[in-house]
Amino acid sequence: MRFEGKVAIVTGGARGMGAAHVRGLVAEGARVAVCDVLDEEGETLAGEFPQARYHHLDVTDEARWRAVVRTVEDALGPVDVLVNNAGIMHRGSVEEQSPEDFRRILDVNLVGAFLGMHTVLPGMRDRGHGAVVNVSSATGMTGFAGSVGYVASKWGVRGMTKAAALDMAGTGIRINSVHPGVIRTPMGEAASPELFAHQPVPRIGEPDEVTRMVLFLACDDASYTTGGEFLVDGGQTIGHARHTSGQR
Ligand SMILES: NC(=O)c1ccc[n+]([C@@H]2O[C@H](COP(=O)([O-])OP(=O)(O)OC[C@H]3O[C@@H](n4cnc5c(N)ncnc54)[C@H](O)[C@@H]3O)[C@@H](O)[C@H]2O)c1
Repeated sequence: MRFEGKVAIVTGGARGMGAAHVRGLVAEGARVAVCDVLDEEGETLAGEFPQARYHHLDVTDEARWRAVVRTVEDALGPVDVLVNNAGIMHRGSVEEQSPEDFRRILDVNLVGAFLGMHTVLPGMRDRGHGAVVNVSSATGMTGFAGSVGYVASKWGVRGMTKAAALDMAGTGIRINSVHPGVIRTPMGEAASPELFAHQPVPRIGEPDEVTRMVLFLACDDASYTTGGEFLVDGGQTIGHARHTSGQR
């Protein structure tokens, strides 16, 4: 029970990978604030566990972040873990993507994660410990055609993670980024199987496979790890493999 007595916030926690992180944290003893804009799904998930609460939180809303963190601290206790997982994907090349869509993607995926850290870090600093896991993407390590705003946002998350980890040096707070490949969620299922067919692990990933990495980084097992970038991508980013046998 690596999270016994700990309090965690998971953004975008109502479904997909966020919901898997919520389940994983609860299973290991955490009290978890499930934050999302999908109220029905979020309430249903949180309702499964006495240790979880749902909070409506649009991660782009600074005032709402402050209100939610206050409520979480009153109800569950000081925040030990923040998982900045909320994200959106709108496809579009550099020529096709509207400036409005580009800004919106950055606002949710990048500014949202900044606001989460900006809001919870002062409390973590006062208490001298805390862990933040920022969910980037394999596309935060490479280019990816037809998703200019998404790629920009995920490279931003990766860079911001390193800057923030340095800002928190010596405070007991660790901040890392996780880079999933194609994962079986409402977002990932929209991807073409071509994307993972030539990976060393030639299949779609499961949300739990990312949760195991997120939980490692969020707990004291990762006590000597900060500012790092952690791929959970079936080898997608190292190049095309030539498969000689069946799927693994
Ligand atoms: N699925 C993949 O293949 C994949 C790959 C790499 C990275 N990611 C990243 O992983 C994270 C989780 O994605 P997923 O695949 O579970 O997608 P998903 O669409 O299933 O879940 C995303 C969640 O974020 C929430 N959300 C969206 N905008 C929000 C906002 N403004 N405020 C609060 N919540 C908001 C959604 O309501 C949803 O519950 C995202 O950051 C995504 O970019 C996904």
